[in-house]
Amino acid sequence: MSTRKLDKYEGRYAARTRVMRSSAMRDLMSLTARPEVISLAGGMPATESFPKDVFDQIAADISMGQRALSLQYGPTEGFDFLKEDIATVMAAEGTMVDPAHVLITTGGQQAIDLVTKTFVDPGDVVLAEGPSYAGALTTFSSYQTDVVHVPMDADGLILEELEAVLDRLTAEGKRAKFLYVVPNFSNPGGTTLSLERRRRLVELAAERDLLIAEDNPYGLLRYEGEALPTLFSLDTAGNVIYLGSFSKIISPGIRTGWMVAPPAILQKVSFGKQATDLCSSPLNQLFVHRFVSSGAWRDYVERLRELYRSRRDAMLASLAEEFPTGSVWTVPQGGFFVWATLPPPLDAGDLFVKALEQNVAFVRGDGFYVDGQGRENMRLSFSGLPEERIQEGIRRLGGVIEDQLELYRAMGM
Ligand SMILES: Cc1ncc(COP(=O)(O)O)c(C=O)c1O
Repeated sequence: MSTRKLDKYEGRYAARTRVMRSSAMRDLMSLTARPEVISLAGGMPATESFPKDVFDQIAADISMGQRALSLQYGPTEGFDFLKEDIATVMAAEGTMVDPAHVLITTGGQQAIDLVTKTFVDPGDVVLAEGPSYAGALTTFSSYQTDVVHVPMDADGLILEELEAVLDRLTAEGKRAKFLYVVPNFSNPGGTTLSLERRRRLVELAAERDLLIAEDNPYGLLRYEGEALPTLFSLDTAGNVIYLGSFSKIISPGIRTGWMVAPPAILQKVSFGKQATDLCSSPLNQLFVHRFVSSGAWRDYVERLRELYRSRRDAMLASLAEEFPTGSVWTVPQGGFFVWATLPPPLDAGDLFVKALEQNVAFVRGDGFYVDGQGRENMRLSFSGLPEERIQEGIRRLGGVIEDQLELYRAMGM
């Protein structure tokens, strides 16, 4: 007899729990956290490189001068001084914002959640890149959203495909609540939306009255080429909500992100945020404020760029050496991820357990779609490991793929 107990609360859960799911990456964290595993799965920022003296100084300064403020509740929309800092950070990427249009969130993830909470009723359509950030897909599913993927190529979202989806929805009498996009160094694709497509996408949004949620946590981590204008900066019609985060340029543990939107939207979002957490941590906001307003963040981001550029280069060189003929992968100009496509009949799902047996982990491509696509894909992250570990990880993965191909050959496939 099975010893598994039935869940005694089964009959009480809300309908939405039936479609709530964990992201592929979160599920992996416990498996891949073992020290012997080389995890190309996680997408972890290199927090060990955060300067100790700066950390100590900020902590001491807050304790000396702002202890009570840091321990108190704060305004739901966040501290005004941090909104000014955010305007400075966005200006470094060429985007000018009015600090009054900024709302501070508990990480970029909460910004995604609040936008969805504000706009989506169960059954509403949200458009998302295919593949799309898994954490956004988990949010969309927890609001019982009908996610429709729009295919991408090396230049990001394919706009003809977007138009076709919009036409189809119109014919079905439906309207997408918003389009979720990561134009810079997308997670998981590693692709960047071209300038031409950015311009056209913003035009299209105006023509079709389409709201866009532009998620840009990686924009400042560019390792080559010129920064491209954000969709937010190109839009003149109020169709773009911008989502930002300090997770990749300071620390994910600091849980500080933001949203920029027209005041009418911000007011609704702020009501939603009150219901979620009253305010984001004042202590963390003060930490970020001191780091940004002192200017120390600029050197740090520069150092991160160098660090991640070398790691990316190590991964790309190893892929060229170790992956079989017929495999292709994206060459990201920034961010944390390479998206590999394996030749048929290889299936990343079949390789996953075999890779873990060899103590190497990646994220299966189908975790970045809601509809089962992506089985031939792997997301490989280079952000959190030194170069030798990346090389060794890709070498092991190449071996696992080679063994699988041998097996297929033996089976006459
Ligand atoms: C595209 C994208 N958006 C948002 C997030 C959420 O990050 P956070 O909540 O730490 O700001 C991530 C994290 O990996 C991401 O890759």
